Amino acid sequence: MSKLIGPFKEIVTLSEAPEKGALEDSELHILRNGGVLIEEEKILKVGDFDTLKSESKSVEEITGDQVLLPGLIDCHTHMVWGGSRARDYTLRMSGESYEKILEQGGGIFDSVEKTRAATSDELRSNLIKRANRHLMDGVTTIEVKSGYGLDVENELKILEVVKDAKADVISDLIPTCLAAHVCPKEFDDKREFLKYLENDLLPQLLVKGLTNRIDIFVEPSAFPMEMAEDYLQKAKGLGFDLTIHADQFHIGGSQIAVELGAKSADHLEASTEREVKILAQSDTVAVALPGASIGLGMNFTPARKLLDAGASLAISTDWNPGSAPMGDLLVQASILGIYEKLSSSEIFAGVTFRAAKALGLDDRGKIVSGMKADMVAFPVNDYREILYNQGKIKPQIIWKNGTRVSHV
Ligand code: NIG
Ligand code: FE
Repeated sequence: MSKLIGPFKEIVTLSEAPEKGALEDSELHILRNGGVLIEEEKILKVGDFDTLKSESKSVEEITGDQVLLPGLIDCHTHMVWGGSRARDYTLRMSGESYEKILEQGGGIFDSVEKTRAATSDELRSNLIKRANRHLMDGVTTIEVKSGYGLDVENELKILEVVKDAKADVISDLIPTCLAAHVCPKEFDDKREFLKYLENDLLPQLLVKGLTNRIDIFVEPSAFPMEMAEDYLQKAKGLGFDLTIHADQFHIGGSQIAVELGAKSADHLEASTEREVKILAQSDTVAVALPGASIGLGMNFTPARKLLDAGASLAISTDWNPGSAPMGDLLVQASILGIYEKLSSSEIFAGVTFRAAKALGLDDRGKIVSGMKADMVAFPVNDYREILYNQGKIKPQIIWKNGTRVSHV
C-alpha cells in the first residue's frame, strides 16, 4: 500500500543534476510544500503535498518546518577496527608525520595488531555502534572496508563481521576488501604478499559472497604503481569492481584507477592538473576525504578543480582510527565546501547520488520516482541552514527503505 509523507517546507530532490561536473544551486531542484508518495521501499511520486493528499488514503503527517534530503551515502570508510590511535594523533599534533609513524611500525600496523587480537563479537558490536551513530547523522548507506587484518584469516574475519552486522544495522553496509592496505610485517616482499592475496584470499571472497569490491593503497610506502596494477588486473579478471586509495601523498594511483575503469579514485590530495584532467575525462568518481585532511593537518583534495574540469566528485568520511577518527560526514563536507568553494548543490550531490555512483549503485541518492525511499529531514526552514550550521544540526527524522527509523 502507498503512503504519503509530508508536508515538507522544502524537498531537495536533486532530480535533474548530472553525474559529472560543476553544479549550480538551481540544480538542487527544490520543491516547496511538497510530499513524497512511497510504496514499499520506493518513491512512487514527488509533488505538491496538497495535490497528492487528495489522492492518498494513508498520510504520515509531518509537523513543524522540515527540509528533506536524500539519505546520505558514505562511500569510503574503514569502520571495523580494534584499539585506538590516540597516541598517534598526539604525536602528529606535535609534528610527527603519518608516514614516519607507519615506517616505524606504528600507525596502520598498530590497528592491525589490535584488530587481529579482537574477537569477532567485539568488532561486530563496535561496528554496530558506529553504524548507528552514522545513521543518526543521516547516513543510510555505508561502505565498509577491511584492511586491518592483512592475512587471509583476519581479512575474512573482518568481512564476516560486516556481513553478520547487517542483520543489526538499519543502513545498508557495502563491504570492500582492502587486504592490500600495507605489506604486513610477516612478508619481506610486497609482490609475494600480493600474490598470496591473489591466490589465497580473492577467490574465497567470491565463494563466500563477502564482497565484490577490491581496494588497494597505491603509494610508495604501501604498494607502488606497477605492483598495484598487476594485483588490480587480477582482481578485475576475477570480476571484482575496483576502487583505489590514490594520490594521497604521491601521484600515480588515479592514473591506474582510470586505466582500469575503477569505480572510484579516493583521496587525491596530491593530484596535480594532469591527474585532475585524467579523472575528469573518465567515468571514475573522484572521492574527496576531508576527514583525512583534517586528521592529518594536510591540504584538501582539489575538489573545485576536479568539478570545473568535469569530474564526478563524491565526498566521504574515510572514518578510520588513524587519519580520520571523526567520522562526521556533514561536518566534513561543509568544511570542504567553504575551503574549496563548492556550491550547496555540489556538496549535497557529493554525499548522495555521486557517492552512490562511486559504489556502482543507481537506485538511491535522489528524491525521484523509482529510487529507494532513503530520506532525511532536518528541522530547518531553508536548505541553506544545513551547511551554514556546518553539520551541527542533525536530521530529526530518517527513513530507510520507506520506513521511519526510531532512535537506535
Ligand atoms: O584512507 N591511507 C591509507 N589508509 C587510510 C588510513 C588508515 C589508517 O591510518 O589507519 C586512509 O586514510
Ligand atoms: Fe581510506
